[in-house]
Amino acid sequence: MEILDNIAALNRFRPGAGEIVLIPTMGALHAGHEALIRRGARLAAGRGTCVVWIFVNPTQFNDPADFARYPKTLDADLAVCRSAGAGAVFVPSKDEIYPPGISVPVPDLPRVATEPGLEDAMRPGHFAGVCQVVLRFFELVKPKVAVFGEKDWQQLQVIRAMAKHATPQVEISPFPTVRESDGLAMSSRNRFLSAEERTRALAISRALTRAGEAGSQREAEAIMATVLGESGIQPEYAVVRDAETLQEVGAGARRALIAAKVGSVRLIDNQQWPKRR
Ligand code: PAJ
Repeated sequence: MEILDNIAALNRFRPGAGEIVLIPTMGALHAGHEALIRRGARLAAGRGTCVVWIFVNPTQFNDPADFARYPKTLDADLAVCRSAGAGAVFVPSKDEIYPPGISVPVPDLPRVATEPGLEDAMRPGHFAGVCQVVLRFFELVKPKVAVFGEKDWQQLQVIRAMAKHATPQVEISPFPTVRESDGLAMSSRNRFLSAEERTRALAISRALTRAGEAGSQREAEAIMATVLGESGIQPEYAVVRDAETLQEVGAGARRALIAAKVGSVRLIDNQQWPKRR
């Protein structure tokens, strides 16, 4: 596995790499990321290379304290990438991605980024930063396919919509959420939960599962509020929305989505609604 720590090294690697399947991450890799990389390695088999990108993108953090404490575990991350079948890991410095004095363009944000009033309402500017870095990496790495997790459901819809216009040559491949055996969605931030908070955090996946049985959207939202409230969790949102536009009304598939702070840790999760029978 090649470790590419600058753009020149990436440019030397690319011509022999065949079709690139890109796995974008901010490191602190867990079994969810590992499953994405395994999928990427399978997709690349026989025709190209799975490339993992590890970069903690400063422009998508609206809270400097969250950025400062974001976990950095590069040696362990490289071991995960290697065992999951990555052909290369791209770990550039901040100055190479955002050269001082040069402004890196932010693409036009799709409506699904801002209009639903979910993640971007709670974290203003977050999706502008995500789209900026994803476009920058797509232009540098030139992938054929990029794999994104359903865990960050709104992010997945935003990137799909952005790529459709800005980089239609890149196929966006979704991957289902990987969970702990007790239902907690895996996240790099779970390590900050105390034992008591981790137990309470289980209310999030429980609320989504219980909501899946509800007969109406309104009932589903009420159930989520109740289940979270029983564990002392006040959600930032716990809603059922159109799965693609994330607007309140829509004709297509629906998704239940929750964001909530447990202690000081902000967690998000989502599930198809209603539950598939
Ligand atoms: P990060 O939070 O590191 O997540 C990297 C990728 O892993 C994302 O596509 C995310 O949806 C996926 N992922 C995280 N937890 C998962 C889980 N439990 N199951 C399945 N997939 C999971 O998302 C980002 O980084 C950044 O915003 C990024 C896209 C890299 C841009 O900076």
